[in-house]
Amino acid sequence: MSADIRIGVFVCDCGTNIAGVVNVPEVVAFAKTLRHVAWADEGKWSCSVDYLKRMQDLIKEHRINRVVVASCTPRTHEPLFKRNTREAGVNPYLLEFVSIREQVSWVHMREPRVATEKAKDLVKMGVAKAALLEAGDEIRLPVKTDCLIIGGGMAGMNAALSVAAQGFNAFIVEKEPRLGGLLNTLCFLSHGHHRRPAAQIVEAKAAQVLAHPKIKVFTGTRIESMQGYIGNYHVALRTDGNGTGAFLDISTVIVATGMQEIEPVRQFEYGNDPRVKTQLQLEAALRSKQLGSVSSVVMINCVNSKNDSRGCCTVGCHVAVKNAIAVKTLRKDADIIILYRDMSLVREEGAAQQQAKQLGVKFLRFPDNRYPEVRKDGDRLRVRVYDLLAGKEFEVPADLIVLTTALRGNESVEQVKDLLKVSTNPDGFFQEAHVKLAPLEFATHGVSLGGCAKAPMFLKESCEAGIGAAMKASIPMKNGYIEAEGIVADIDLTQCSQCGLCSQRCPYRAIRVDAEDHPAVIQALCKGCGLCAADCPNECISIVHYTDEQVLAQVAAALEENPGQKIIAFICHWCALGGVDMAGVSRLQYPAHARLIRVMCSARVSIKMMRRAFEGGAAGVLVAGCEFPTCHYIQGNYAAETRVKRARKKLAKAGYDPAKLWNIWCSAADGPKFADTMRTMVKELGL
Ligand code: FES
Repeated sequence: MSADIRIGVFVCDCGTNIAGVVNVPEVVAFAKTLRHVAWADEGKWSCSVDYLKRMQDLIKEHRINRVVVASCTPRTHEPLFKRNTREAGVNPYLLEFVSIREQVSWVHMREPRVATEKAKDLVKMGVAKAALLEAGDEIRLPVKTDCLIIGGGMAGMNAALSVAAQGFNAFIVEKEPRLGGLLNTLCFLSHGHHRRPAAQIVEAKAAQVLAHPKIKVFTGTRIESMQGYIGNYHVALRTDGNGTGAFLDISTVIVATGMQEIEPVRQFEYGNDPRVKTQLQLEAALRSKQLGSVSSVVMINCVNSKNDSRGCCTVGCHVAVKNAIAVKTLRKDADIIILYRDMSLVREEGAAQQQAKQLGVKFLRFPDNRYPEVRKDGDRLRVRVYDLLAGKEFEVPADLIVLTTALRGNESVEQVKDLLKVSTNPDGFFQEAHVKLAPLEFATHGVSLGGCAKAPMFLKESCEAGIGAAMKASIPMKNGYIEAEGIVADIDLTQCSQCGLCSQRCPYRAIRVDAEDHPAVIQALCKGCGLCAADCPNECISIVHYTDEQVLAQVAAALEENPGQKIIAFICHWCALGGVDMAGVSRLQYPAHARLIRVMCSARVSIKMMRRAFEGGAAGVLVAGCEFPTCHYIQGNYAAETRVKRARKKLAKAGYDPAKLWNIWCSAADGPKFADTMRTMVKELGL
């Protein structure tokens, strides 16, 4: 054994979660036979206070300087073990985390022998990587006390007030001429006792904002450019009309840009007949008291939502009921029917539906696959609908048809996405860093997310999310600094041919090229996705904790025995690993052939890595990343997809079967998709 490298392996029973399937003593005994392993130990509950203390004692007693923890998932427990490693006196970057619960015991429950062999392989791969790990450091960046809030709706205003209440400076930039956002287009906010004009609420909140000495508001203003990173953003503003500009130096950013309706295209006579409106257009008519003499109103819910391409809009049923009550209040004799697929109402919204029914509003349920049809009959509009409960079709006249449409992020989403280098989801909203672990932040440090910019929300939730985003933004402003993870790119200039590709490819513009064509990494901007390293033609970029050598060592370790029975699966840390974990949590059982190698983003997987797996005799290779367009590094999955296509061609030329290289793009909820992919792959590879 090398005198320098002393690896400690800690294998967790997780009660019976792991030990009920995997023979943990056998894995521990196996770990002790591996090169560089100074000690291996079994823990009943490794994350318990007692065991963490034992781990620290063992690290000290055996002079361990690299740690491998084999337990649950790094997505939840890695920070805890990193902290413990640090407290034991070992640099936390010298920890490697191996998942033998979500990736093994929970998904191979009926195959204890196979599961134990897979766990041994994963530990071996972890040890191989750990031997090559190097100490790293968090990057500490100074942060001052100025916060930019993009969007002056209710979420943005609440965020500004919360930031200002803590003594920090808040700058609201609102593209519209006045504060209020979507609320400015609404008539009444709610129903029953709480029914209040939206304008009253906006006015009250805007008055607080405008009177606050720590808040400066720029209305009718757009962000022209934005450069920098947390603690050090330079923002250029341009105000419409007078063409004046302003420059701000700010430290943190809150995105609260709101949402908008998706206008139907050539559906339900929308656009052809002015009597067909969206809910927001109806709100405008109610607000300006220009409803006209309507006597029959038909509302159609779930227009372009709750289908294969997007989910439930979550607020539509409530909006339809609220507006039906508003119309009925103005036109007591009007016949109002709400055509729905499912009424999705909770708490007081259910009471609102009862109120609507008492006022005479009718509700009629139509089947998911049989939407109502609108036709013109001379001057009249008629709606034909199949009533699911009555089991027959009706046709009703209407002099106003209101469509409850799907919603998406505001039109400024693309510009803000580009300015801040943050991610969006397929529904056109911004994508939080993690649904549960970081719901109010982006992966980009110092940028938080509030209100309907993330998803459709009711007013209360939107205000709460604005305040939550302000709290997130305030943490580094209060501390005066932020510590960013040290997983960043490092360029070996001695091997660099100055082609400039890394700088062009970086999604965060974190690699600048100087006057002499030398690239340099701006660590504060680099997120460590690894796209540059995987594409560098000279292989002179390494990513801390995910170097070529470390990943290739894992590949080699996995394929030491029976390579023809193994699939090397490169998995991104975010959605793809989330999908893997979800398969585990759901106890989906799938074949045990895959040996998973975690990378931060699918963009990190180079053609060399894929090829090396085939050279090692792997039966197949899988590259798994986030579904489009939700890569947590903006566009890493697109880069990975392109690279996989290129790799197939290169593999074919080298004599390998390109059909054995697979890719999969999934969400963190896509456990079934991952399990299915495993089953299909194993079948098609003939394993
Ligand atoms: Fe999942 Fe980029 S983070 S593919």
